[in-house]
Amino acid sequence: MEFASLAARRPIAGSEQDQLTPDGTDNPLWDVVRWMPATPYIGEEYELEPFIAATEFDISTAQRLSKLGAELSPLCKRYAWSIISPGDVAWMSNVLGGRMVVEIGAGSGYWAWQLEQAGIDVAAYDPNPVGENTYCTSGPSTTVLRDDASAVKHHQDRALLMVWPPFQGESARHALSSYEGDLLIYAGESYGGCTADDDFYELLAAEWDEIGTSPQHVTWWGIRCRLSAYQRRSRSTS
Ligand SMILES: C[S@@+](CC[C@H](N)C(=O)[O-])C[C@H]1O[C@@H](n2cnc3c(N)ncnc32)[C@H](O)[C@@H]1O
Repeated sequence: MEFASLAARRPIAGSEQDQLTPDGTDNPLWDVVRWMPATPYIGEEYELEPFIAATEFDISTAQRLSKLGAELSPLCKRYAWSIISPGDVAWMSNVLGGRMVVEIGAGSGYWAWQLEQAGIDVAAYDPNPVGENTYCTSGPSTTVLRDDASAVKHHQDRALLMVWPPFQGESARHALSSYEGDLLIYAGESYGGCTADDDFYELLAAEWDEIGTSPQHVTWWGIRCRLSAYQRRSRSTS
């Protein structure tokens, strides 16, 4: 009852354009997150960011959610490190325009599973299977093949997807420099944030143009995660 009145006073994460999981599909992480109190976020550059799902509005709400396991760390490990909303799936489907995807560092395969339910073919890879992967405790949600960023070389015709690559790890840079295709979809923080390393962002800035950002991406309180698409500059301008 208390939680309901709190939610009534603030928007919930799933209220933006009624983000509902389409019939016949499952998105259990979203089923939890979409009810959380949320707030629009004004980013560093004063652009309006999508809603942020929050667990830190007040101590009692945080404690109640924590008792349910409905907080950032357990949900990241159980499902995915970036929240994938129904709006994100629709946005990616539109950006891809029928193209297939190769995902590097797919973890438990949660994002790949979401895209597959939308009819998108995903070749998902991670060097650490669930059970040996300290980032992921559940799953896999779909087939995740065991390989690192070098798997990109088998799928140069696909769009490259990376979601929350390891902080200060080389894998995102390795994948991007091995990739010869022209479309990258990336979910993570920006330069200086908690995903990938500086080399990755420097390569991204040098060779790629951002062509869009998912307007219905939801992120955790304090986590500046964006879901964006990039096109290789040399091919877009030739
Ligand atoms: C923070 S988790 C994100 C997993 C998943 N993308 C998600 O959002 O739930 C980082 C992932 O990168 C993987 N990883 C670690 N080293 C890697 C490498 N060299 N190449 C590709 N993936 C790697 C880890 O095994 C882990 O699954």
